[in-house]
Amino acid sequence: MNDLTIALAKGRLAKQTMEFFRRIGITCEEMEDPKTRKLIFRNEEQKLNFFLSKPSDVPTYVEYGAADLGVAGRDTILEENRKLYEVLDLGIGRCRMCVCGPAAAAEKLKRHELIRVATKYPVIARDYFYNKKHQTVEIIKLNGSVELAPIVGLADVIVDIVETGGTLRENGLEVLEPICDLSAKIVVNQVSMKMEQERISDLIGKLRQVVRASRPDSN
Ligand code: PRP
Repeated sequence: MNDLTIALAKGRLAKQTMEFFRRIGITCEEMEDPKTRKLIFRNEEQKLNFFLSKPSDVPTYVEYGAADLGVAGRDTILEENRKLYEVLDLGIGRCRMCVCGPAAAAEKLKRHELIRVATKYPVIARDYFYNKKHQTVEIIKLNGSVELAPIVGLADVIVDIVETGGTLRENGLEVLEPICDLSAKIVVNQVSMKMEQERISDLIGKLRQVVRASRPDSN
């Protein structure tokens, strides 16, 4: 049996994903040590490797075959636009991609003004404004704490993830236009899908059952 390598998004998503794996009998004991700084882990018996990457890099590792499978947020999948198969929505990490800003910016959006949009997601923002809304905007790429941008006058609005809405509320901002729903998905390398078809299909099939059991409306 060949090894399978699985890329996980470092942080809460990796923990939630391992809970799904645990329910289908796949565990990785050394990953559970809260003090570990290791990035790659192995389950010798099951011929599985797991590694923890920056969430936005998961699709890259999977496209190039450094990982056969990965678990990535739909935000990252859309933004990276990599060649890979999206095979299963795990229904975890649910949130929304939205245009947000101060209430006063709603009018500018409505009038299709040439506004500045700050975001960590320039591909998603461009697609939304240019292809869906047909509004010309200036997009400014930031790397985090994007909510700052309209407050300090860098941008009129932001395109960002809203989960609880707490960050927006505490900074006097609000959702102005929802763009799409997001959640975590299993993605598979296109060559691995052919070469390891049986093993990957079996794994995905078992995970699908666990997802269905925890969320009857899932695929
Ligand atoms: C994300 C996102 C928002 C916040 C939304 O940021 O970019 O800022 O979480 O969550 P909420 O609606 O529950 O408040 P993250 O914590 O990943 O950090 P970042 O801003 O540095 O990207």
